[in-house]
Amino acid sequence: MAKIREECEILHMTDKQLREIMTRLHNDLVKGLSKDTHPTATVKCWLTYIQDLPNGKERGKFLALDLGGTNFRVLIINLGENHFDMQSKIYAIPNHIMTGTGIALFDHIAECLANFMKEHNVYEERLALGFTFSFPLKQMGLTKGILQRWTKGFSCSGAIGEDVVQGLKDAIARRGDVQIDICAILNDTTGTLMSCAWKNHNCKIGLIVGTGSNACYVEKTGQCELFEGDMSKSDMLINTEWGAFGDDGALDFVRTEFDREVDSNSINPGKQIQEKMISGMYMGELVRLALVKFTRMGLLFGGRGSDLLFQRNSFYTKYVSEIESDKPGDFTSCMDVLEELGLSHATEADMAAVRHVCECVSRRAAHLVSAGIATLLNKMNEPRVTVGIDGSVYRFHPHFHTLMCEKIAQLVQPGISFDLMLSEDGSGRGAALVAAVACRESLGCA
Ligand code: BGC
Repeated sequence: MAKIREECEILHMTDKQLREIMTRLHNDLVKGLSKDTHPTATVKCWLTYIQDLPNGKERGKFLALDLGGTNFRVLIINLGENHFDMQSKIYAIPNHIMTGTGIALFDHIAECLANFMKEHNVYEERLALGFTFSFPLKQMGLTKGILQRWTKGFSCSGAIGEDVVQGLKDAIARRGDVQIDICAILNDTTGTLMSCAWKNHNCKIGLIVGTGSNACYVEKTGQCELFEGDMSKSDMLINTEWGAFGDDGALDFVRTEFDREVDSNSINPGKQIQEKMISGMYMGELVRLALVKFTRMGLLFGGRGSDLLFQRNSFYTKYVSEIESDKPGDFTSCMDVLEELGLSHATEADMAAVRHVCECVSRRAAHLVSAGIATLLNKMNEPRVTVGIDGSVYRFHPHFHTLMCEKIAQLVQPGISFDLMLSEDGSGRGAALVAAVACRESLGCA
């Protein structure tokens, strides 16, 4: 165990390293926002064209689409006074569609939408729709967004460089059976922020720690050099796309052999470097690679692994949450996981070591996210900010929230207070709210 603890030290980031990361991220955010440096910036800081937060008076019936996490969902949302109701359905995106053509993806989405409308008896209505599309988009307006890159295992051909709203409109037109007004396209971080801000006016940061990772925040319009519209509104939501932080080597000083291997085995090597150190798509695999190394060194399982242990992506990220949910000294979940992996010969010392590896990987992710949030809080320099958060890792990991609270408190400038709030279904409700605010502002729909 002592040897494993020593080996895991590379996963520990000191406060000095975290502060260095904060300086680098801050510089990258400024580069992303500035006109001259934006084209070569790694953290793009895309404009969202969302300048109005909800005021709680939004009303009406909206459709929403949510694409970009593990699931694809269609939702219908009724916003009323002080309450809303929502019905939704999850549709699978089969692997051949995730990696097929853009056209096939949009046809699939349009088909799910039409089926959903039939089931909810709104097939004949012309409803406003908000589209949560959680990939990097260069937005040209609230209803125009050019896809920059795929992330999180998607790789549909012919979609990069294209307007996603147009792609969906074309697919709906090809069917010809439903009428939709697409009022807004947004990122899941933006939806999360909007959905929290509906109740809590201090909510000025939206964060996702799920399959992928990203954050958005409220910036002064004056700082958004790429914005050429109406400067009379003081604020603009910025989608940082911080998953790409590190793509230029900025995080190499803290990356490990496990990070490099996860990256080289991925479908987008060299891209989304920070995301690969944080998010649910990769966390389990990082743990597995460490376990494989320690088994080969003879430090774990008596040097005897299993076929599954040696098989890529067999250690699910949800295992990390399960293992860390065991009380100290108890290894019930850990034992279940190891049995599933064909490692029932594990001793109690092995189980303690496996838990230690999980803790090191998840704690590092929480600290990296915390450094990012502290950077945003310091940059915004507002006395009190609520961070709206969603995503499977934040939601299901037993200690992520506490780790983040502690670390942000250490890294943030004195005088800034913050709280972290779980956002209830930001991608769905947030999409409806953005559509509703767009209608309120009568910006017109596409
Ligand atoms: C995407 C972001 C998204 C994040 C969380 C990343 O891979 O690039 O747009 O917000 O995942 O879903």
